[in-house]
Amino acid sequence: MCGIVGYIGYREAYPIVIKGLKRLEYRGYDSAGVMLFDGEKIKLSKTKGKVVDLEAKTSEEISTNGTIGMGHTRWATHGVPNDVNSHPHVSNSGDLVIIHNGIIENYAPLKVELIKRGYVFHSDTDTEVLVNLIEEVQKKENLKLGKAVQVALNQVFGAYAIAVFDKKNPDEIVVARLGSPLAIGIGEGEYFIASDASPFIEYTSNAVYLEDGEMANIRLHKPMKVRKIKDDSLVDPYIQELQMNLEQIEKGGYDHFMLKEIYEQPSVITDTYRGRLHANEGIIQMSGVEDNLEKFLNAERIIIVACGTSWHAGLVAEYIFEEFTRIPVEVEYASEFRYRNPIINRRDVVIAISQSGETADTMAAIKLAKEKGAFVYGVCNVVGSSISRETHAGSHTHAGPEIGVASTKAFTTQITVLIMMALRLAKAKGTLSNTDFHRYLQELEIIPDKVKEALETNAKAKEIAKVFKNSHNCLYLGRGYNFPVALEGALKLKEISYIHAEGYPAAEMKHGPIALIDEHMPVIIIAPKQGHYDKIVSNIQEIKSRSGIIIAVVTKGDTQVRGLADYIIEIPDTSDAFSPLITTIPLQLLSYHIAVMRGCNVDQPRNLAKSVTVE
Ligand code: F6R
Repeated sequence: MCGIVGYIGYREAYPIVIKGLKRLEYRGYDSAGVMLFDGEKIKLSKTKGKVVDLEAKTSEEISTNGTIGMGHTRWATHGVPNDVNSHPHVSNSGDLVIIHNGIIENYAPLKVELIKRGYVFHSDTDTEVLVNLIEEVQKKENLKLGKAVQVALNQVFGAYAIAVFDKKNPDEIVVARLGSPLAIGIGEGEYFIASDASPFIEYTSNAVYLEDGEMANIRLHKPMKVRKIKDDSLVDPYIQELQMNLEQIEKGGYDHFMLKEIYEQPSVITDTYRGRLHANEGIIQMSGVEDNLEKFLNAERIIIVACGTSWHAGLVAEYIFEEFTRIPVEVEYASEFRYRNPIINRRDVVIAISQSGETADTMAAIKLAKEKGAFVYGVCNVVGSSISRETHAGSHTHAGPEIGVASTKAFTTQITVLIMMALRLAKAKGTLSNTDFHRYLQELEIIPDKVKEALETNAKAKEIAKVFKNSHNCLYLGRGYNFPVALEGALKLKEISYIHAEGYPAAEMKHGPIALIDEHMPVIIIAPKQGHYDKIVSNIQEIKSRSGIIIAVVTKGDTQVRGLADYIIEIPDTSDAFSPLITTIPLQLLSYHIAVMRGCNVDQPRNLAKSVTVE
């Protein structure tokens, strides 16, 4: 969490840093700050609040000239969000300035030691400890900034992406990473630093993603030097050409990124299967799967690890993999898996699902599985992310940048990848009949059209949102493939509208949640024609007889549920296995409209961040 941006070159740094922070605000938005250097003075401006608040404050507080700058947007870990705890932090001498994304776990004993040596602390942050530790090392051993950063980092535990500036040697910024992402954009006579490449895509398409345990000295008019923090060995950095474009990270006429991303789903699902699905030839080709086919075919078990919405995609995959391939599947919260001494063996295949590719718990689960000898396959959206590099192999989803904090298009593209994997393995194992296999391929190809049709429920979702925008609770029910969709629908509503919502398998309702049902309780029930339709109709009857309000997502033309439900949302017909790709769409739209009507910040809900790089 937290976003960092830096610039060193010939342009005015301030506009680059501010624009960059706005693009990184999805990573945290409870406070922000900026440092500018004009050749003589370090100028600082920090505030609780968002980047727009910082912008307003900065223009009143400081002159914004200077060709070196650093900025930070924060998601608080140590110390409440306030002006003082905001980054950048400055060392006691006033010479060193740092921005930091991550956590220094042993900051407390280091702080005690530094206080004994006369250091004074103004904030409650671990970051202020780190910058003073660097200063102490620098003074004690008379070191240049790069070396001092290296020595200090070898004394800390935790996670970090940092950028450090030293007024005494102002042609340089030193950066380092361990566990938090850091990209360096390389221009002509200028460098850009950021948590991801979005702040600098209009300036350069050449970037280096630092690996864990690496640091770089970024100097004006000199080639960048990358080395290992541990042993000082030099590393030849791999310069990557960026694929991202500006349009992808802008709102494109939509009021919110979330809405834009919901509407992008038909095209990004197509992007995700493009080149992999050849329906007419009856072929699915995914290089990561092809290269490791034996491992998958010999798998005694597939274990899926993920968090949040990605975990919901994993639950959908459990149903799909078991049905199509007959390989047993377990789905685990990465945060539980990593700490419960799980049984993993060499014949297990672990699939890690992550949009950002940076989630700390998922990353730790991958490392654990690798240590125990499992083959680990990643399903990530962000190319070059830590998880996509840590896994043995993987398939990217091609959702493009997802900026709204609530995950939408990442979810449906993850399911698309997982469906293709299951189909490919089913073909190799012979666990699906030829007819079914071909039918599924044909159907997957036209799924984007069905998603488009499902988006036509927008007006209906808005109308229903008007009625329920002031609800305090909501229940989501589904069965089979649509049980994870119920969980996902509830998560979407609670995270962006702050309405309490629960997802349940519809039949479980009888075992407790039914007690909640009365004439005030909206129950959103996913009841497509395929699947356990009759069973779900019985569940609807049970709700109705207790005066619950029923909002049902049904297949177009449905008459039976129409007769029972208070509100109907009609979606196109699909096979049971693919229905989550369709049923999830109206639920995303419903949450979106309710949140907008409640005046919530849809793209940046309170207390959340897009990339959860702390455990
Ligand atoms: C919910 C949401 C989160 C993420 C979770 C995992 O809308 O976005 O629940 O799904 O934090 O993130 P990734 O997929 O980046 O590992």
